[in-house]
Amino acid sequence: MSDVSVIGTGAMGSALVEALAASGAEVTIWNRTPEKAEALLGPRVRLAPSAAEALTTSPLTIMAVSGHEVSRTIIENAQVDLTDKVVASTSFVTPDQGRVYDSAVSVAGGQYLDLSIPAYPSEVRSGAGVFLISGDRNAFEAHRTRFERIGRITTHVSDTPGAAYISEMAVLLAYLPMAVSLLQGLRICEHHGIPVEWFRETVLELYPFHITSLLDRVIAQEDSSATEVEASISEWGRGAAEYADYLRELQLDPGLYDALHRLFEGAASAGQGEADWTVIAEHLASSRE
Ligand SMILES: NC(=O)c1ccc[n+]([C@@H]2O[C@H](COP(=O)([O-])OP(=O)(O)OC[C@H]3O[C@@H](n4cnc5c(N)ncnc54)[C@H](OP(=O)(O)O)[C@@H]3O)[C@@H](O)[C@H]2O)c1
Repeated sequence: MSDVSVIGTGAMGSALVEALAASGAEVTIWNRTPEKAEALLGPRVRLAPSAAEALTTSPLTIMAVSGHEVSRTIIENAQVDLTDKVVASTSFVTPDQGRVYDSAVSVAGGQYLDLSIPAYPSEVRSGAGVFLISGDRNAFEAHRTRFERIGRITTHVSDTPGAAYISEMAVLLAYLPMAVSLLQGLRICEHHGIPVEWFRETVLELYPFHITSLLDRVIAQEDSSATEVEASISEWGRGAAEYADYLRELQLDPGLYDALHRLFEGAASAGQGEADWTVIAEHLASSRE
């Protein structure tokens, strides 16, 4: 017996194993390619000869493999009794896919948890993991401390399978465009000899304020009494076009800003050019080419 099993010892699985062992847990691991798991073995970490053994030797198994179908197939092929066992999977699922995974675990007698990790493996390894979990509340509570001991945030999002991933997506949707835009901003600084340190400090100074202000506005726009126009749809559309043009001039990909320009232009063409930019929410449902 061990406290927790980890199936899949790639980048995230290895980080979880190291963090769990460092927190004092007895960990059983299994990986399709056993040689890749051997570097993790130690006083608290042992290698199971099969996925079936890893799944049955601990009350909690974390599945950290490439995709929910691979993950679910490992469980189905193991053909084990999962009574009193909880299986937490790190792979993205939609709610429909989550329900399919949930029923595969339930059929075997166990309980399924979505384990969404909006963090890099290095953060998980160093005890700064973030764990958004959905699925049966009691199953979560039974293993909550296991995650709290190795992470900085552990949250039960909902009882619905798949909800953790969808919540993560809702929160992180702004992250990729921001990451790409930060890289492009840096290129602009390099091009014009603007010191990188100035760029870094100014971004750090401005963004927390901007994020608070944006959140206040996008949440308040649900309230129809919030009508004051501070920046209109047309103004933001023009701004997006200007940014896109200059990115093009610098031979940086203008795609993100071209798309934003199209979105705001579409709303302006529909007669809402003078409305506050937050009215763009009404135009997000339709696809505009
Ligand atoms: N890396 C991240 O930043 C990050 C962040 C959050 C969540 N995650 C999640 O962590 C999970 C693993 O991602 P990763 O980044 O660790 O990927 P990875 O480094 O590519 O590792 C993939 C793992 O899946 C195993 N695997 C792949 N196909 C398999 C199959 N057909 N049968 C059995 N095992 C198979 C691999 O085994 P072999 O060693 O035998 O190839 C390896 O253990 C995913 O669910 C991902 O969404 C990753």
